Amino acid sequence: MSNNLVAHVQSVNAERRSELKNQHPVVIWLTGLSGAGKSSIANALELALCDSGKHTYLLDGDNIRLGLCKDLGFSDADRVENIRRISEVAKLFLDAGLIVITAFISPFMRDRALAREVIGDTTFIEVFVDAPLSECMRRDPKGLYKKAEQGLIKNFTGIDSAYEPPANPDIRINTLENDIDTCIAQILEYLKVPRT
Ligand code: ADX
Repeated sequence: MSNNLVAHVQSVNAERRSELKNQHPVVIWLTGLSGAGKSSIANALELALCDSGKHTYLLDGDNIRLGLCKDLGFSDADRVENIRRISEVAKLFLDAGLIVITAFISPFMRDRALAREVIGDTTFIEVFVDAPLSECMRRDPKGLYKKAEQGLIKNFTGIDSAYEPPANPDIRINTLENDIDTCIAQILEYLKVPRT
């Protein structure tokens, strides 16, 4: 990193942008195993927030990995870099006054703690999308667990790469016992956004 960088002070700031949108921007950070339901929850949550007149942006694992992070794989180091970039991008969208939803496995506690640090403690909401590994393997929506078990994919989360569940998430949603609608209601209640 160069030492010759000075952040420019901009006339329009985060408060001004969020005031215009009449909302309190936050980052809703979904974490959980592949197949736990992060993308489905994120999609339904964004729809519900939009229906309530909120301005949102959704950053989703596979989509980001097809673009911004297409140079990264699934080694521990690459996952760390993936989450670092996403934290910085989420911070920019937050600054733009948006309610940001992120859906990434984000398997390591330390990286989620760093994301919280980058984004800010009061604006970072950690949501543990919780489903047992056995259930995620049963669902196997993309057929990836099967491939991982056959040794065709290496470093697969839950198989031969670790997932560290949050010890104290802001919200824990259980996608084994609850349907999507119930999970969304739980998050909206936490955000104090009335359902429309
Ligand atoms: S993270 O660990 O860096 O947070 P991320 O959420 O971006 O992962 O990407 C996970 C998605 O990549 C999974 O939903 C799955 O579709 C795909 N994928 C491909 N290979 C792997 C792997 N080895 N481990 C986990 N997910 C993988």
